[in-house]
This record gives sequence, structure tokens and C-alpha cells, in this order.
Amino acid sequence: VVDIKGGPDEGLDRLGQTLAVTGWVRTFRVQSSVTFIEVNDGSCLSNMQCVLGSDAEGYDQVESGSITNGASIWVQGVIATSQGSKQKVELKVNKIVVIGKSDPSYPIQKKRVSREFLRTKAHLRPRTNTFGAVARVRNALAYATHKFFQENGFVWVSSPIITSSDCEGAGEQFCVTTLIPSSREVSDSPVDGIPKTKDGRIDWSQDFFGKPAFLTVSGQLNAETYATALSDVYIFGPTFRAENSNTARHLAEFWMIEPELAFADLNDDMACATAYLQYVVRHVLDNCKEDMDFFNTWIEKGIIDRLSNVAEKDFVQLTYTDAVELLLRAKKKFEFPVKWGCDLQSEHERYLTEEAFSGCPVIVRDYPKEIKAFYMRQNDDGKTVAAMDMLVPRVGELIGGSQREERLEKLEDRLDELKLNKDSYWWYLDLRRYGSVPHAGFGLGFERLVQFATGIENIRDVIPFPRTPGSSEF
Ligand code: 4AD
Ligand code: MG
Repeated sequence: VVDIKGGPDEGLDRLGQTLAVTGWVRTFRVQSSVTFIEVNDGSCLSNMQCVLGSDAEGYDQVESGSITNGASIWVQGVIATSQGSKQKVELKVNKIVVIGKSDPSYPIQKKRVSREFLRTKAHLRPRTNTFGAVARVRNALAYATHKFFQENGFVWVSSPIITSSDCEGAGEQFCVTTLIPSSREVSDSPVDGIPKTKDGRIDWSQDFFGKPAFLTVSGQLNAETYATALSDVYIFGPTFRAENSNTARHLAEFWMIEPELAFADLNDDMACATAYLQYVVRHVLDNCKEDMDFFNTWIEKGIIDRLSNVAEKDFVQLTYTDAVELLLRAKKKFEFPVKWGCDLQSEHERYLTEEAFSGCPVIVRDYPKEIKAFYMRQNDDGKTVAAMDMLVPRVGELIGGSQREERLEKLEDRLDELKLNKDSYWWYLDLRRYGSVPHAGFGLGFERLVQFATGIENIRDVIPFPRTPGSSEF
């Protein structure tokens, strides 16, 4: 359908051509002499309006009530001009086949349903306008991400999902049960897919890895190993955090984009983050016009202008110290008082980007070392580290990054200071022992990017199957 509707003349250039469409019935109207069926195949937001007379082959399926919302159908007909105001062309159907009937209990009926309700129907919600559009824009952002990095000479690297190191040291790791049955002698009837020994016991005494294992919170440390061999690399994969924060910006399972640049400092890192964001925003504005118009009308009025500005204008940069001063001078009353040394709360982040700098992305740099991870490079003042967070309107923190500590001694001192076990970082320290280089990188939460690009308020609505506290269905 996108080939027709998205064509140069919205299909008028294809008048008279025969076309077969497969898709799902969005709505239908049976009138005395003619039946209208709106079919959507997911290729775009638009439906194909199909018009059937009683002479169409398979019309008996209309009469028997087999055409209902949600049914899958195959229709064949001729492209003709439409009298309707919503489209230039429609399909004059000469043959219809119902492929899969839809039970009357189909929950996605025409009346508008809330996004909360649709979260309980995650298996069917991609059939709605909003979730179809989000899925296509999410896909476009992923494509643009690879395109940006590939065009700029970065190599895509996979980081492990199961790991025994905690990159962020924030204690938000999920522990993985890696125990396995000590005997593989399987009985005839495994219970729930779990093999039992012949005497019926399940003996979990053998540890697969021999030490605790976790789901990764960030692939950064692994990315650093490849950056110090291949120069610029990036990771794009799932990450997991057991943070018990039930907010509109946190997921327990989310995707992160993590470039790592060798022979680079914090300024290079911020320049890369800016160029990346501008590139992917421009990509969706240019390539997802129909879906972006939809978001502009129904989800966030003015999002297209907002994103166009982001794609063109310079971002604001300021130090953490200046940001704190600005917040202290603000007339606004914050729930959490601001003070040098405290992490910025989301109300502060949003004030900076939405009010102080009226909608422009803001990069805050040089944070106090106490509130940042062990691997960040210490600044000469002894108090701050070369960290940067990019804050954007509505979402707050979109990116967290830093220049990494490349000096072996400084890094070892910091690990000691934080009472972290140096032995378990032996391979990470080796990178500083053998040909260390200044390097920097960042992590961007992919779902927060999708929120930013679509205006969707809740992060649960921009990932197909959200994982949040107490919810892992589907
Ligand atoms: O700021 P964070 O914790 O940085 C890191 O993990 C670094 N190791 C990244 C790096 O330098 N390679 O996380 C990076 C970004 C955040 O800015 C945010 O956008 C996103 O990941 N993020 C989350 N997104 C959804 N749900 C969560 N629970 C998130 N936690 C972080
Ligand atoms: Mg962060």
C-alpha cells in the first residue's frame, strides 16, 4: 500500500492497474449496493479503501458476515479514482478471499482505546495507527543509526549479554541463574522443559560459569577493548537494569547505542553525539513524513518544528557548576533542592532544556566525580570528571557519556578509592598497560530517542514488549 499511497501522485499515476492487497480489516461498512472495507497492511499509516459490489467473486463472504474488524483478507481489483475526501484512489474489488476470520471479541475496535488499555494487549496493539507508526519510526531510527556510524567509519561490535562485570557500579544488575542440573541423565518426562535425573530429582548443584553472572547494564567496557584495536566502534544492543523506578522514562530492558571513539577527548565525544542526533532526526523527518504528520497532529502538536530546530541549530553546552548556579538562580520551586555535588533530578534536567534554553538540547559537562562512574577521566581540578549528559525536552537525559580514564595509575587509584576489586578489572586495566590512548564514548537510550522523535509520553509505548517492575508478559 505504501507504494501506491506514497507514490508520486498518491496513486493517481497508477489508475487502471490491477492490484492485489493483503492485510487486516480496519473498518468496514456494508451498504445496500456496495461494501467499503478499509484494509491496512502495515506498510504505512494509510488504509487502502476497497469497494465491492455484489458481483465481486467471494462476495458471499461479506453476506455470511466473515468480514469483521481484524480479519485478514486478500483482495484483488483495479485502482480507480476515489470520491472520498481522505484518498485520491481506491480499489474496485473483483475478488476477495478471507484468509483468517476475526472473532467478535477482537479488542481493537474502531472507537479510540487508551494506551494503558493497549499495554494489556501488546500482541495486538501494533495493529493500531499509533503503534504501527511508532514501530516504523523506531525501525527508521535503527536504520539511520547504523547508517550514520557506518558512513563515518565505525565498526559495529557485539557485546555480551551475560557478564560478570558491573560497568556502572550502581548495583542495578539482574543476577542470572546459571545453575544447571549436575546430571544430564534425562527422565522420559521433563517437567516444564527442565530435565530431571532418573530418580526424579532436579539437582542444581553445578554452576555453569563457576561464579555469579549478570545481565549487562552497558557494553561500554567491552566496547573499549575493540576501540583500542579498531579505533572507532559502536555497540547497539539490549541492556538490562533492575531499577525499581516506575517512571515514564525507565525500562528494565532497553536498547542502548554506545559508540566508543579512540584518540578522542570529551569535545570529540560531544561533537559525535550532536552530529548523530541531528542525523537521525533529519532522517526520520525526511523518510517518515506520513507518520511524523500523524504524531504532529495527534500526539505532540509542533513536534515537526521542534525536531527541525534540533536538526539545524547548535546545542547548548555548559558545565555542571554553571548548570547548578543557573538552577539556584531559577525562580522555579523544585521538589528536590539543588546543591553542588548532587545529581541532577529529572525536574532540573527538564527545567534546563525546556525553560532555561527553550527547547534546545543541552549538554552538561564536568560533573563531580562522586556522582559518576569509576572509569571517567579525572579533570585537573581534582573534583570533577570529563563526563557529559545530553538533556532534551520532554525526555530529560537522553545520553550519558565521558572521556575514559586512560592513565593506569589514576584508574587504579580510583578503583581503590571506591573499594572496587581491581583483580576483576584485570583485562580492563590491561588496555591501559598496552598502548593506552585517550578515548571517549557515550550511551544513548534508544527508547528515549524514540520518545523524543515521536512525542510519545510513556517509554512503555515505544518498545514492542516493555519490561517493567512486575510486568514481563508477552
Ligand atoms: O547514563 P548511563 O547509565 O551510561 C552508561 O551506561 C554508560 N556506560 C554509557 C557509555 O558511556 N557507553 O546510560 C546511558 C543512557 C541514558 O542516558 C539513558 O538514555 C539510557 O541509557 N537509560 C535508560 N533508558 C531506559 N530505561 C532505563 N532504565 C535506562 N537507564 C539508562
Ligand atoms: Mg546517566
